[in-house]
Amino acid sequence: MDTTASTNGESFEILRQLIVERRTNMMVDRERSVPGSTIRDLCDLAMWAPNHKRTWPWRFATFTGEGRMRLGEAAAMDLIAGGSDDESKIGKVRRKYARTPVVLVIGSAPDDHATFHDENRDAVAAGIQNLLLGATALGLASFWSTAPVIDGPNTLELCGFESGTRIIGMIYLGWPTGEGLPGERPEPEITIVDS
Ligand SMILES: Cc1cc2nc3c(=O)[nH]c(=O)nc-3n(C[C@H](O)[C@H](O)[C@H](O)COP(=O)(O)O)c2cc1C
Repeated sequence: MDTTASTNGESFEILRQLIVERRTNMMVDRERSVPGSTIRDLCDLAMWAPNHKRTWPWRFATFTGEGRMRLGEAAAMDLIAGGSDDESKIGKVRRKYARTPVVLVIGSAPDDHATFHDENRDAVAAGIQNLLLGATALGLASFWSTAPVIDGPNTLELCGFESGTRIIGMIYLGWPTGEGLPGERPEPEITIVDS
């Protein structure tokens, strides 16, 4: 019996299950906190993503308690500074981060070289997937949302991120009270060139 193949097959199946089970889910217990050590472990997972030129572009800021309202206020200020006068949208942004016990803002550091600047973003996106899978493995619900303004100065300053950083995800995390939408994906389209 080829035990190596069997072990690898088991690892693949465990990983596949985790990947397929991860669902975008906002139904969480707002009152049940997520330990800071858990958030730190998840950030550490993000940093194991591939990273061309080893630029270490991942930037993290966590928001809990009243900090979530400060995040909403900063994001609202950035929307207004960008010319928005949609009062309904601005009001929603002010309140939305209180929907989960913790919001993790993840940024991609800038680079003077245009290609590396873009590749930093790719590395951060890959890192976010690591983090989401880690959250799934721990039984946490997660939701990757787009920042209202991805490079808004008020939000960047509150996060402690340098100017030019792009916010790649505002990640809501919490203990689930319900399930996300059923997962579905189309079949992969693969071009095969064999000769
Ligand atoms: C870069 C990125 C940004 C996203 N931003 C949002 C968002 O702003 N609002 C939202 O409802 N979902 C957002 N999503 C989540 C997707 O809507 C979600 O992944 C998709 O519906 C598939 O659902 P699943 O994650 O459960 O498979 C984002 C996902 C990615 C990768």
